[in-house]
Amino acid sequence: MAFGWEGEKVRLVPLDIEKHLANAVAWVNDPDITANLLIGDMPITELAEREYFEHASKETKTDIMFAIETLDGTHLGFSGLHRIDWRNGFATTGTFIGAKDLWGKGYGTDAAKTRARYAFEVLGLRMLYSEYLEGNERSRRMQLAAGYKECGRLPKKYWKRGQYRDLIQTYLDRETWEAQSRA
Ligand SMILES: CC(C)(COP(=O)(O)OP(=O)(O)OC[C@H]1O[C@@H](n2cnc3c(N)ncnc32)[C@H](O)[C@@H]1OP(=O)(O)O)[C@@H](O)C(=O)NCCC(=O)NCCS
Repeated sequence: MAFGWEGEKVRLVPLDIEKHLANAVAWVNDPDITANLLIGDMPITELAEREYFEHASKETKTDIMFAIETLDGTHLGFSGLHRIDWRNGFATTGTFIGAKDLWGKGYGTDAAKTRARYAFEVLGLRMLYSEYLEGNERSRRMQLAAGYKECGRLPKKYWKRGQYRDLIQTYLDRETWEAQSRA
């Protein structure tokens, strides 16, 4: 039986160690997938990832992690709301599509839109923040398509694969999301 938060192409479902852990270990150790991420430059063991899963599976006070699946139940990646600040109504979002053959087909955008609906409608948040490394064009375009706007740039913040790269900061507010949902 299908469950989770459903978009047009994906479903955001709870983490399932049996179904999602082995993919996570393979994906976070794949240099192509982590080329624009802050993780992935050190080996990430099955043990470390399992501990992360076990923690993330139980503790949802400030971090909510979903696995992203297609509507037919194929596991594609992960989507998170991190460092949730309930008093001020914001969270930081992150998206990870590990199935490389499915990049650029709209799954990330649909997952981001579905997560925004969940964040604003279900959790009652008012603002989502995100960020990406300069040069991560897929992430930039995915965030634009989901309604995020650029609001800052920290020059040469992180060393990643041979160079210091700018960190671009973005946000999506409830009003923009509501207007976009009505359109
Ligand atoms: C970034 C990521 C989440 C985007 O998900 P996705 O499913 O690939 O994204 P979508 O297909 O919804 O949208 C991608 C956008 O990039 C465009 N795109 C596709 N291939 C591209 C390429 N090679 N170069 C530049 N842009 C590209 C698409 O056309 C689309 O833009 P559009 O809606 O304006 O047409 C996913 O690729 C990913 O997880 N990559 C590895 C990890 C990562 O970088 N995560 C983000 C960290 S900030």
